[in-house]
Amino acid sequence: MTSFRKPRKIVITGGAGFIGSNLVYHWCNKYPGDRIIVLDALTYAGNRQTIAPLEEKGNLKFVQGDICDRSLIDELLETESIDTIAHLAAESHVDRSILGPGAFVQTNVVGTFTLLEAFRQRWQKQNQPADYRFLHVSTDEVYGSLELEDPPFTETTPYTPNSPYSASKAGSDHLARAYYHTYGMPTLITNCSNNYGPYHFPEKLIPLMCINILLGKALPVYGDGQNIRDWLYVKDHCRALDTVIHQGTPGETYNIGGNNEVKNIDLVRLLCKLMDELGDELPVSPSEQLITFVKDRPGHDRRYAIDATKIKTELGWTPQVTVEEGLSQTVKWYLQNRDWWKPLLSPEYQNYYQKVYSERSTPV
Ligand code: NAD
Ligand code: TYD
Repeated sequence: MTSFRKPRKIVITGGAGFIGSNLVYHWCNKYPGDRIIVLDALTYAGNRQTIAPLEEKGNLKFVQGDICDRSLIDELLETESIDTIAHLAAESHVDRSILGPGAFVQTNVVGTFTLLEAFRQRWQKQNQPADYRFLHVSTDEVYGSLELEDPPFTETTPYTPNSPYSASKAGSDHLARAYYHTYGMPTLITNCSNNYGPYHFPEKLIPLMCINILLGKALPVYGDGQNIRDWLYVKDHCRALDTVIHQGTPGETYNIGGNNEVKNIDLVRLLCKLMDELGDELPVSPSEQLITFVKDRPGHDRRYAIDATKIKTELGWTPQVTVEEGLSQTVKWYLQNRDWWKPLLSPEYQNYYQKVYSERSTPV
């Protein structure tokens, strides 16, 4: 028996960024009958080229715009009869939030509030349809930092955000939660661990290490390299977001994680090994020689780990890609897609890189 699924009219905010673009690919392939609007301001982290091949298909429309622009959003929700928002647009990098927190408050808090308000107006005007959904995509960093002996974060772990990035995401999570409790609006929240995979902007740990190995540049490891992150392949995350939109209970929060805790230094060594095996004629080989311990990131959270029992038992989602498989795929992707990442190393990016790494340049 085939079950009927009503096509959705969905806005994916941040759809030109890392996770957003992977979600746009996932959604277009899986639901070709849906109407998909990508709303993205194309900040330094957004790249329209990433999803350009999909724009040729008739069911996807790209709109360049800011999530803080209420009149633009009102018009979009109305003219496209939107029933679903997957909200991923954000300022997403902790190091940038340390250099300049203002943009994080603006986009992550004010922008999320603006979207919630616009969606509330539309949902109420349409007499509160039961199948409308607002998915707010968030991070495990809102839960703060774990000690080695602590159990992983669950959905009831108290919020203790430590960076301007995680504090701004925590603020937006609380707003999304409040819209369900106050207005009954069907919001859902997901808190996910660190993602990796294709289309990841060069500033983040995994792409930065891959690219620096290919360029023969130093591999800056913050502090003692013993910090732990719980890595999830981005395509597994996209499947989880799809599952939550279709099967999640409005008002609920779902933690998403890969059960793959790895110390930063072990991850960097693994990337060096994979690059040495898979890359031809690296400028420096073996690439481990490039590892440089640098001054730590201020307020650096020691460990993140996710308990994803709820989404597994209630919605049946589990990750499918092991960290070994996923990292090997990712290394191959950065080797084969130089045309994607090379243009991103712009003068603006070099300027940012200088700023962060000159502060941390003292090897420890
Ligand atoms: P990203 O930085 O790669 O992409 C963010 C996108 O949002 C970019 O395309 C950018 O142009 C767009 N954007 C930024 N400000 C905007 C604005 N004011 N209006 C419209 N568009 C704007 O981020 P990502 O890594 O893909 O993260 C996506 C979401 O997932 C974020 O909400 C982030 O907090 C969350 N998240 C990320 C991770 C991770 O490991 N990357 C883990 C858990 C949760
Ligand atoms: P990052 O990719 O910035 O993600 P997040 O801070 O959101 O977890 O960093 C992942 C880990 O890698 C984090 O512990 C900081 C560390 N790191 C380095 O050691 N060197 C680097 O150059 C970067 C960017 C990160």
